[in-house]
Amino acid sequence: MITLDLSKAKLAEDLGSYKEKVAEIHDMIRNKTGAGNDFLGWVELPENYDKEEVQLMKETAAKLREKVDVLLVCGIGGSYLGARAAIEAINGLYSDDKVEIIYVGNTFSSNYIHQVAKYIEDKDFAINVISKSGTTTETSISFRIFKEMCEKKYGKEGARERIVATTDREKGALKKLATDEGYVTFVVPDDIGGRYSVLTAVGLFPIAMAGIDIDEMLKGAKDAMVKYNDANIETNDAYRYGVARQLLNKAGYSAEMFVTYELQLNNVAEWWKQLYGESEGKENKGILPHSAVFSTDLHSLGQFIQEGSKVLYETIFEVKNPQNDMIIPSDPDDLDGLNYLAGKSVDYVNKRACEGTIDAHVNTGNVPNIIISLDKMDAYGFGYMVYFFEMSCAMSVYFLGVNPFNQPGVEVYKKNMFKLLGKPGY
Ligand code: PA5
Repeated sequence: MITLDLSKAKLAEDLGSYKEKVAEIHDMIRNKTGAGNDFLGWVELPENYDKEEVQLMKETAAKLREKVDVLLVCGIGGSYLGARAAIEAINGLYSDDKVEIIYVGNTFSSNYIHQVAKYIEDKDFAINVISKSGTTTETSISFRIFKEMCEKKYGKEGARERIVATTDREKGALKKLATDEGYVTFVVPDDIGGRYSVLTAVGLFPIAMAGIDIDEMLKGAKDAMVKYNDANIETNDAYRYGVARQLLNKAGYSAEMFVTYELQLNNVAEWWKQLYGESEGKENKGILPHSAVFSTDLHSLGQFIQEGSKVLYETIFEVKNPQNDMIIPSDPDDLDGLNYLAGKSVDYVNKRACEGTIDAHVNTGNVPNIIISLDKMDAYGFGYMVYFFEMSCAMSVYFLGVNPFNQPGVEVYKKNMFKLLGKPGY
């Protein structure tokens, strides 16, 4: 399902020489003995997930999909990026699904919130508010605004039928509010952090609301879980990728550009950036995760990658088979000189652009390239991919000597902001 090509990664060391270290880290992950081991619930999630809760998610989504035109997904960071990545990657950017998904709770931008409010004014909408802590300010402000709108439009009882909360099993302001209001509530497990939570209700409920088969997604993740439960660096591609990126880091490449060739994969890149950036960027260590969508960004960033300072390597995330393709028509006048491509498909051109760019960057630009290929971006493939990257991230960050599962640095701006806003206690 996923193949890894390191032949263009310009690695100066043999991955096999880290066999013992990798086997030790593998044991740390599996036996939960490393730093942050309270947050390893994702490792066996594709097998141990709460089957009754997934059933309730499917039933609730089926009922709501009959009722509404729009679902507002209200969350930030790990509480929305995975769902958005899946929904856009699988359904595309202009989906013809009957329910439109709109993301709120991820910004303080008054322009954005105001525009969404205007846009949904005359539409039938539901809200899925998602927050593990239940106190995240961006999410809470948007939820207060859209909850009020929902109650004004449908009354308290109607709003109750349209609001679903995903939060901690017991604690937090959102849990209390959801219990008091009587909302359907799903749980963010204690042992799974935000950036590892896409295969819990955090991601699965909005994904089900977008008409995507979440059983297939969990099946893809389960197959990857079996495949990558392998201590051997020679055969485990998730570990090979995780270690290869640290060897490049050691060789002076401190930035990784995650490259796709599909606009609808932009939020897969955003999800990937959070996963790696928040996991390893601490103690003055870590690789800067960056991303680009080609060929679009070859017309902007391409110059820097080809000839700029040699700080970055690329990870090309290629999807072998697109969901849709189109044939380039023939034109009798050929004024644009494109008849040499008539009858070829657009994806054929995209794939040649990818091959030509890899050659240019690796062989002329001297930029190391890691190539990861996924057969197909469907529900199964997405679940498989999620597990691949989660497992490679855990290996990579432990290999670097950092706790992959905390994020102490994200609190600093919040304290300053709360003080400036006059929040009690700051
Ligand atoms: O990975 C993380 O922990 C963060 O991105 C959180 O998911 C994000 O800050 C949202 O937090 P919460 O779900 O508590 O609202």
